[in-house]
Amino acid sequence: MCGIVGYIGTNDSKSILLHGLEKLEYRGYDSAGIAVLNDDGVNLTKVKGRIANLKKSVDNSVESTMGIGHTRWATHGEPSIINAHPHQSASGQFTIVHNGVIENYQDLKRDYLRDVTFVSETDTEVIVQLIEKLYDKYKDTLQAFREAMGLLKGSYAIGMIDADDSDTLYVSKNKSPLLIGLGDGFNLIASDAMATLKETDQYLEIFDKEIVLVNRNFVEVQKLNGTVVERKPYTAQIDASDIEKGTYPHYMLKEIDEQPIVMRKIIREYQDENNELKLDKSIRSAMQKADRIYIIAAGTSYHAGLVGKDFIEKLAKIPTEVHVASEFSYNMPLLSEKPLFVFISQSGETADSRAVLVKIKELGHPALTMTNVPGSTLSREADYTLHLHAGPEIAVASTKAYTAQIAVLAILATDTAKAKGLELEFELMKELAIVANAMEVLTDQKEEMERLAREYLATTRNAFFIGRSGDYNVSLEAALKLKEISYIQAEGFAGGELKHGTIALIEDGTPVIALSTHENVNYSIRGNVQEVVARGANALIISMKGLEEDTDDFVLPSVHDLLTPLTSVIPMQLLAYYAALHRDCDVDKPRNLAKSVTVE
Ligand code: F6R
Repeated sequence: MCGIVGYIGTNDSKSILLHGLEKLEYRGYDSAGIAVLNDDGVNLTKVKGRIANLKKSVDNSVESTMGIGHTRWATHGEPSIINAHPHQSASGQFTIVHNGVIENYQDLKRDYLRDVTFVSETDTEVIVQLIEKLYDKYKDTLQAFREAMGLLKGSYAIGMIDADDSDTLYVSKNKSPLLIGLGDGFNLIASDAMATLKETDQYLEIFDKEIVLVNRNFVEVQKLNGTVVERKPYTAQIDASDIEKGTYPHYMLKEIDEQPIVMRKIIREYQDENNELKLDKSIRSAMQKADRIYIIAAGTSYHAGLVGKDFIEKLAKIPTEVHVASEFSYNMPLLSEKPLFVFISQSGETADSRAVLVKIKELGHPALTMTNVPGSTLSREADYTLHLHAGPEIAVASTKAYTAQIAVLAILATDTAKAKGLELEFELMKELAIVANAMEVLTDQKEEMERLAREYLATTRNAFFIGRSGDYNVSLEAALKLKEISYIQAEGFAGGELKHGTIALIEDGTPVIALSTHENVNYSIRGNVQEVVARGANALIISMKGLEEDTDDFVLPSVHDLLTPLTSVIPMQLLAYYAALHRDCDVDKPRNLAKSVTVE
């Protein structure tokens, strides 16, 4: 969480920083700030709230060709102007932006900074005060910066300005993401290439604990001990147009609509010229060797993992467990003899998942990361990576990454089944092509979804989603989508489980959205609907062609029984979207959230 950006060149740094921060706002939007340097010194602007506020507050008459910026998701200290970044040292010589959490900030305060008066409640201020303290000792900025980085424990991506040096941005990282963007006569730093794609498509990766000196005309990467590291740049594979909203009112709606395209891209990427599945041989062999798969993920990715478990067990016949990452680290189950860990993460940066990855690597177990961001931390640190090919997902609420995760999990399970010589009664890629067409039909039915959202969800206090089997997994995701963007208290429930307690919450008019896409549970879920209707619920039934009844509210096109989560989730995403609109919520940037959760 939090996004940082920095620029050093010959153009106006303020506009480049503000544009970059807008693109990073998905990482947090509690408060924001920029610091720019010119002959008059450092000019600092900080605001509470969004980048739009920051833009209004920045003094456009200040000229500067270097600066740093930050958009915050609060960890230490409430969202306020004082706690907003950039933070400055007592004398004002050093100014930094930081993404991450410094675990030993209290120790550092006690051991080195007893005499310093702190202005903010942040762990970040400790870093900049520490740098100043070390500078007072060495009278050398690089040495002070290096020594301070050596003392930090935890995660950080840092950009720093020294008011006495208008030629250098001081940069370092550990665990938190940070890239160097390379240009002609200018260079940049950013938490994500999306922030700086308008300026350049050339990037330099930096690794944990490295220090980088970023000048207008050169970039020098050093190890913590000062050894210079040579590294080749790479070309970012995202197009600047991929990250624009275009004519859409919100990124979320654009990303919902992109799902058929993503499905077809996945089909192309994972199929060779003979229409055979195309997967790295080493992944195939790791899957075959495993006696149990442990899927580790958070939030929506965890929900995709639940669907994936069905695929791996039913198709590849490997026992599979799905775990919430933040729980697994502290309450590890008894592991099998030959486990394979599959990390599912859109961003590839989720700290809870990374904590598990670090632990299981220490135990010597193999790991595969399924991510939308190859090159992300989870992708780099795992043995294998499967790319989701969903394209940048910018709305905080995940939509197209969820369906991409499910499709890639289906491919992984099918490929393993084939490698094991197991009989399959369907051609996965053909079925996914049918899914892509069905998705298109569904994304075209926005008016109907808008009407249903208005009727069932516009004013309600709470809502329930129920389903059985695969539909239960989708109910969990549907409830998460609705709560995170519309703030309606929503719960996903196994249809048969309601009567064991939760049915007590059903009152006159409580919306209950029931999914029925599996023949073997069609009858029983409809029975569960009757139970809630008898207690006053306002039931909305979504079924699938072939299983529908006349009174159903919405009927999905028919797809393969195993793959229905790929289509049934789309009306759920649209219901959440329109419910949020009807309730005047900020769809793309819901309160309290951030897209990339890089703190545990
Ligand atoms: C919800 C959502 C989150 C993420 C979760 C994991 O819409 O996006 O629940 O799924 O924070 O993030 P990744 O997949 O990046 O590890």
